[in-house]
Amino acid sequence: MSLSRPDARSGLKRLQLIMGVSFLLSTFAGAYLLATDGSLWNLAISHALGLIIIVMIDAVLGVLNLLGRRNVYLPSLAAGTLGFLLQVGDIVTAPQYNMTIPYFASYLFGLWAYDLLLALQLAVIVAGVFGTNYARYLARVRTGRGRKQLSYTKRDFLKSFVAFAVLIGGAVVAGSVKIPPPQQQTTTQTSQSNLPSGAIADTSQLQVGSPVYFEYPSGYPNILLKNSDGTLTALSMLCTHVCCQCIYESSSNVIFCPCHGSVFDATGRVVRGPAQTPLPSIELTVDSSGFVYAKGLNGRGPCLP
Ligand code: FES
Repeated sequence: MSLSRPDARSGLKRLQLIMGVSFLLSTFAGAYLLATDGSLWNLAISHALGLIIIVMIDAVLGVLNLLGRRNVYLPSLAAGTLGFLLQVGDIVTAPQYNMTIPYFASYLFGLWAYDLLLALQLAVIVAGVFGTNYARYLARVRTGRGRKQLSYTKRDFLKSFVAFAVLIGGAVVAGSVKIPPPQQQTTTQTSQSNLPSGAIADTSQLQVGSPVYFEYPSGYPNILLKNSDGTLTALSMLCTHVCCQCIYESSSNVIFCPCHGSVFDATGRVVRGPAQTPLPSIELTVDSSGFVYAKGLNGRGPCLP
């Protein structure tokens, strides 16, 4: 294809218009996710901070592309590629949050804002690739002042890609620093002491409305409740929606998930969604001295092994 300078300029301008609109819409989709998906903040704050940086980069590149700044063409392609890879790569972090990859993928792809974000990053990549001929042409010709019209090299692409990756990676690392969230319960301690090895509670010390927290299997948080009729109930505290850690509210005797608002009753049944599956329960035994032991899992949520 033989190109003239005006053709190359106007062709690139049209594609930058698409890139600009795509970036601004993806800013909206990212901001919507940040504002509405509590699991980002409760479960994966490092991902939330990474997404904030992506949203900021998209906003700036969106505006600059709409203003027709040719020097952001290549950084835009790099940002779109990185954004797409990171959003898809998010799926494989599922085991970090006690979920299987297929379950987490089905959750993410069920979020329209996530799908839109992916589609828009892909639109930026496609527009960028379509602009290759224009960009190559403008990278060869010089203006009247002898300056190149556009810088278009693999090296420049990689420089932008790495710079954005460092920015986003810095936010993710900062968010990975473990600070215990104030509203979450400590699950590795019980309110009881002097228990024999392996026991989770002493029935003589259990009281209605005063739960005991324990891990079973190791690393999985659970709650032990004494019911008003004297029976015991032990439940997983990982929400069956997306595995956020729930909170027991003694005033209403319910288990509440801070991520998307699911509520379970004290038997683990779903009172309010989006969770649809009851909390798995823990099978218990009580020895002749009244000590309580966990001995198995009943039911299966998406979060347990
Ligand atoms: S993780 Fe979504 S409601 Fe619990």
